[in-house]
Amino acid sequence: MKIFIDTAIIKEIEWAEERGLIDGVTTNPTLLTMADRKLGEVVHDVLNIVKDRPVSIELVSQTTDELVEEAKTIVKLAKNVVVKVPMTDEGMMAVQQLEERGIRTNVTLVFSPAQALLAARAGATFVSIFVGRLDDIGKNGMQVVRDTVKLLKNYEFKSMVLAASIRSVQHVEEAALAGADIATIPLKVLIQMYRHELTDKGVKKFLLDWEKVPK
Ligand code: G3P
Repeated sequence: MKIFIDTAIIKEIEWAEERGLIDGVTTNPTLLTMADRKLGEVVHDVLNIVKDRPVSIELVSQTTDELVEEAKTIVKLAKNVVVKVPMTDEGMMAVQQLEERGIRTNVTLVFSPAQALLAARAGATFVSIFVGRLDDIGKNGMQVVRDTVKLLKNYEFKSMVLAASIRSVQHVEEAALAGADIATIPLKVLIQMYRHELTDKGVKKFLLDWEKVPK
């Protein structure tokens, strides 16, 4: 499974890049508020680090024509820009036009296999399923990922299933087991993936025992 980092904070992207963890970056307006810098500066810096892998930037227009125009402007920033389009009627019409023009799209705010099917039919490059937000309302977010993986495979759609709104290491593991193509992961969870209490305990014990080895 590929790993995207879900952030607009440059230090976080650098941290993951140093460790060879990034296959792409996803941002959204909420994440951009956390970066607390001007949009142009953030995007410039992200694209500078992640030159050759997809960087998703969210469109904020409402109508199909406006979404298409906004996308055409944004993709001029760099060849690896992918536009995030909301899972709406207008959005899916925009996705069709954008993909026909060779502009890659990430359909965002997908919460059901039915929505994923429509996004795939529109030709989306990525279909982002928001696992954590479904869990938040008492649904099983990962089941939507599992069902969507199966559904897109049944009909040989080319769209990639992107598990988003990832909140835990368990989400990452389950997304990989479900066969998601990508998980977009916040830094906090990436760091947690390295950790296990038995690893920490084992490292300490081996170091203590090493001191006792006659040398
Ligand atoms: O990639 C989508 C993600 O940023 C949403 O995550 O935690 O705000 O639901 P969250």
